[in-house]
Amino acid sequence: MGSGTTLVEAKLLNRNAAGVDINPQSVLISKKNLKFQCETNPKIFAINGNATNLHFIKDNCIDFICTHPPYSNIIKYSKGIEGDISLLSVENFLIEMKKVAEESFRSLKKGKICAVMIGDIRKYGKVIPLGFYIMECFLQAGFVNKEIIIKEQHNCLSTDYWKKQNNNFLLLAHEYIFVFQK
Ligand SMILES: C[S@@+](CC[C@H](N)C(=O)[O-])C[C@H]1O[C@@H](n2cnc3c(N)ncnc32)[C@H](O)[C@@H]1O
Repeated sequence: MGSGTTLVEAKLLNRNAAGVDINPQSVLISKKNLKFQCETNPKIFAINGNATNLHFIKDNCIDFICTHPPYSNIIKYSKGIEGDISLLSVENFLIEMKKVAEESFRSLKKGKICAVMIGDIRKYGKVIPLGFYIMECFLQAGFVNKEIIIKEQHNCLSTDYWKKQNNNFLLLAHEYIFVFQK
């Protein structure tokens, strides 16, 4: 859920929506961002929960999932909240994302779409193809690949820093939106 971007778009599109985030701050920020008047009035829920265990959502009942997980521990979203997967090494992050993929598959209606935005990362000069590892988690959970969308991503907070470092590698300048179907 983060700051609630997806929920804001759901409200504008008159779609009922439930956002989930492990960080209570995210719920507060999202609720604040959702306080605007528009012609639509869908049911929107901002839930403090763990995407690895969506027990409060029944099987086969969701029409569309849109998720944007952390990129392992590249940006840490909390200082130690239990269950925050932005605090995990790649290996442990992937274990948890496998559970997210399984919960997504369980809760989604058959034939419906789960969209996942994620990027690759670089550590000690080497590319870690996190996007493709995540893709594999969702395929293993039972999804099929409907689309792979490449999203250009040029100006991150750290872009200027890395440009000045004069390193012998290319800057990562794209992310993926994997469009999976159940
Ligand atoms: C990349 S951000 C999402 C940003 C969002 N797209 C937006 O527009 O603000 C990733 C989010 O995942 C949350 N998160 C980390 N671990 C989680 C977990 N186990 N379950 C649910 N959310 C989690 C973080 O708190 C963070 O808000």
